Amino acid sequence: MAKSSRSNNNKRSFCIFIIFSLLLILTVAESKPVSRTGISEAPAPLICDLAFGVKSGDTCFNIAQGFGLSSGEFESINPNVNCTALFVGQWICVEGSEDFS
Ligand SMILES: *[C@@H]1O[C@H](CO)[C@@H](O)[C@H](O)[C@H]1NC(C)=O
Repeated sequence: MAKSSRSNNNKRSFCIFIIFSLLLILTVAESKPVSRTGISEAPAPLICDLAFGVKSGDTCFNIAQGFGLSSGEFESINPNVNCTALFVGQWICVEGSEDFS
């Protein structure tokens, strides 16, 4: 009788252990998306306030010049634009900022 009661206690502790383990796993799993958004080494999200559709004959240089942007400013708001493969109808950001908040 005493034996069986001890074994029940062991089962209960084991069960509690399993429940805590599951809670821990869930906590870790749920904290993952938070740490993903918290990566500050990732490039700051760009806010584009004004976009310009590339027309025939446009180049990065004349677009930047037309909007009074230096090549550095142009590149910082258009990090994914390949100026050697610019195509008509491509959207170029001509006024924007990096969101450092
Ligand atoms: C840009 O486009 C040109 C022409 O398609 C290609 O040769 C070059 O590798 C591209 N550069 C980048 C950084 O993707």
